[in-house]
Amino acid sequence: MSLKFTPETANARILSVGAYRPPRVVPNSEIVGRIDSTDEWIQQRTGIESRHFASADESLIDMAAKSANIAIARAGLVAEDIDAVIFATISYPYQAPSAATELLVRLGNTKAAAFDISAACAGFCYGVALANDLVRNKTAKNVLVMGAEKLSDFTDPDDRATAFIFADGAGSVVIGPSQDIGIGPTVWGASAETRDAIVLEPSYLEYKKNPGKLDLGWPNINQQGQTVFRWAVYEIAPIALRALEAAGLTPETLDAFIPHQANDRIIESLVKSMKLPESVVVAHDIRTSGNTSSASIPLAMDALLAERPELHGKSALLIGFGAGLVYAGQVVELPNKPNNQSK
Ligand SMILES: CC(C)(COP(=O)(O)OP(=O)(O)OC[C@H]1O[C@@H](n2cnc3c(N)ncnc32)[C@H](O)[C@@H]1OP(=O)(O)O)[C@@H](O)C(=O)NCCC(=O)NCCS
Repeated sequence: MSLKFTPETANARILSVGAYRPPRVVPNSEIVGRIDSTDEWIQQRTGIESRHFASADESLIDMAAKSANIAIARAGLVAEDIDAVIFATISYPYQAPSAATELLVRLGNTKAAAFDISAACAGFCYGVALANDLVRNKTAKNVLVMGAEKLSDFTDPDDRATAFIFADGAGSVVIGPSQDIGIGPTVWGASAETRDAIVLEPSYLEYKKNPGKLDLGWPNINQQGQTVFRWAVYEIAPIALRALEAAGLTPETLDAFIPHQANDRIIESLVKSMKLPESVVVAHDIRTSGNTSSASIPLAMDALLAERPELHGKSALLIGFGAGLVYAGQVVELPNKPNNQSK
């Protein structure tokens, strides 16, 4: 049997990007005392000079709403024009209801479709893939893809393996209809046999199973740094090249590279393995933002467009990778310069 309707399709693109970084800048000097480290060691191993931490009373949704309002205004839209919200995060402190529906309430548009995805540092690119398909199939017209994290709540400041890496922030894009194809095919997948390389533990259930056992500790991110480093350096470059090829581009015809901001050495290694020429502008937001997981790519996109406004409307290869281990990448046309951009 076949259903009796004619499917309609559209092209999709990123209409706008919005970013929010909490005002509190935390230099390495504030981190090193508790982990017997130095500013020099952190900069040399990761490229990170400073990061932003939200204040105790600034929630994940506070940050997300600020980023979303900027992205929606830059798209020339109002909140009611958004008909789906995809919220990528690993640091919303509730299993249900979703962060996406709390964001809807804050935006004053409680009617849009809304859901969260848990794909860690690949979450934003997973969201772009889904939003592209929703717009292309006319399931939605304007989709807000949010990547937001308050990782300072889930990072142990005494852990030498993580305390200097993770940070807070929110970045988002509005994806909507366009005349041309503005988002290339997504290359995605997992290396789930290595799913214990980055974990947020203990789980909520451990507390229920062990009432009163306070030495279980607060749920924090634990990671096997070298395992993650090797995986990222060896596995991700060929995946990123596949996304480039799927979009019909080559390293020579690409304008910008905006990888997940996990570690500047990983970024440099990807650039080298992929043989990207010097003409490709590479995002290095990690240096002043740290690793903000799902927020890192839209934050880096916003920073790059502020620094290099000539990249508006140009091509960029995005590649997210992280806990799972999971990855996703696609080429996008960066948003055009908004008429109403205030900053
Ligand atoms: C975390 C990371 C920077 C650690 O670097 P590394 O070179 O693997 O560090 P190692 O754990 O092997 O330790 C190397 C040395 O540095 C020391 N060290 C470890 N952590 C340290 C710290 N925070 N400060 C100072 N020294 C430290 C170790 O004691 C060791 O010393 P030794 O050689 O005298 O024994 C690196 O593994 C990394 O960036 N991994 C990827 C993490 C990531 O990107 N995660 C997010 C993915 S989405």
